[in-house]
Amino acid sequence: MTINYNERIPNNVSLSEDKQLQRALERWQPKYLDWWREMGPEGFQTKDVYLRTAVSVDPQGWAQFGYVKMPDYRWGIFLTPPEKDRRVNFGDHKGEAAWQEVPGEYRSVLRRLIVTQGDTEPASVEQQHQLGRTCPSLYDLRNLFQVNVEEGRHLWAMVYLLMKHFGRDGREEAGGMLERRSGDADRPRILGAFNEKTPDWLSFFFFAMLTDRDGKYQLASLAESGFDPLSRSCKFMLTEEAHHLFVGETGIARILAKTCEAMKRIDSDDPAKVRAEGAIDLPTIQKYLNFHISVTEDLYGSEISTNAANAYTMGVKGRFEETKLHDDHRLANATYSIPDLVADRIVVREAPALTALNERLRDDYIIDCQKGVDRWNKVLEKGGTDARLNLPHKAFHRQIGIFEQVHVSPDGRVLAEAEWTRHHADWLPSEDDHAFVQSLMKPVTEPGKFASWIAPPARGINNQPIDYPYARLS
Ligand SMILES: [Fe+2]
Ligand SMILES: [Fe+2]
Repeated sequence: MTINYNERIPNNVSLSEDKQLQRALERWQPKYLDWWREMGPEGFQTKDVYLRTAVSVDPQGWAQFGYVKMPDYRWGIFLTPPEKDRRVNFGDHKGEAAWQEVPGEYRSVLRRLIVTQGDTEPASVEQQHQLGRTCPSLYDLRNLFQVNVEEGRHLWAMVYLLMKHFGRDGREEAGGMLERRSGDADRPRILGAFNEKTPDWLSFFFFAMLTDRDGKYQLASLAESGFDPLSRSCKFMLTEEAHHLFVGETGIARILAKTCEAMKRIDSDDPAKVRAEGAIDLPTIQKYLNFHISVTEDLYGSEISTNAANAYTMGVKGRFEETKLHDDHRLANATYSIPDLVADRIVVREAPALTALNERLRDDYIIDCQKGVDRWNKVLEKGGTDARLNLPHKAFHRQIGIFEQVHVSPDGRVLAEAEWTRHHADWLPSEDDHAFVQSLMKPVTEPGKFASWIAPPARGINNQPIDYPYARLS
């Protein structure tokens, strides 16, 4: 399973033994690089950045660190080693040998899942295209670029599956991945959250914490797939994803630490006074949290979904940690509690577990987010304030599923239109909030220096000091 770096496309899948596939990927590669130069980090393509590159897939020591110009990054195809005698672990085919090829009857479902996942990867790079210009430090700049190149690699992972297993359709889909653009009116990315803007670093850190975490949950359920190459691709992607979540969580924690410092210094939590100190006030941070979690919750789809049920029954997409769950892994008679609307009240009712799989995955995700919020609240506690961040009710500000038709407050009350209009600026970032956060976005590029609104990290990357030149800009 060692990675062959002598080939044009680094890989651990013996690509050179499949000449047709190798040629197809080598034809796609220059188009990918064109896309990267156009939509990758603007203004930094010729700079040396201290990046990690995958050199093996074993959990210890898979990464190597060094200066790389981003267009020279060795994007490649890395799957975790095959598991001996792996089986389909759920659905109608439970117990059968895992598939090495796509079962004909599941082709379109698998293709849709892979394309939908793959499309999110370049989308986030596009959303973060301009952020480097306003980095709060070289350390953060490097982390942004690390996330970006790895999202690019995730695209490679999905394009490999499409080209190897889906013939001409797969090659066409691979082309489409480079043609859609985040936020474009005519050819947008497939999923809503990936067409939102990431205009500032507060948004970026929430995106990495919350939206990359959706990625973790989607990848984890695809890693359960009976289609073994998909499972092995997703398992290695999850290894990389962990760093993205770290960047997001610690980014917000460091912002909170700075906010607490400011509040202590002025002995006030008055947002205007906190802002005057060059820190971000807690109400604004809460509003950004509300926004990012609600658009990300939409990514899980409708509460009731026959698509989700079918994907499970077919054995192509499992539940989070499927093989650690103790039940029959078929769910024919099982139920699951889902939210519903009765008149203008939110109630809970039982639904068939199979059709409720989207809701279940969303709930698993929210539990994980809550743990992150609890860790942030420890930072606030340590910082000497009684204020806390809260996850809004999952019905808040939703555009997909049953709550699309109603307005719901962060504490879960269904609101009349007028009340929503009166209050939504208290719950979601207003133009003024965006403008304030934007006003803080001034680049800080001296090694070891940080913007006024974010604390230094506890430690550097790869045991390097905090004032290490993580990017060479001159
Ligand atoms: Fe990704
Ligand atoms: Fe990610």
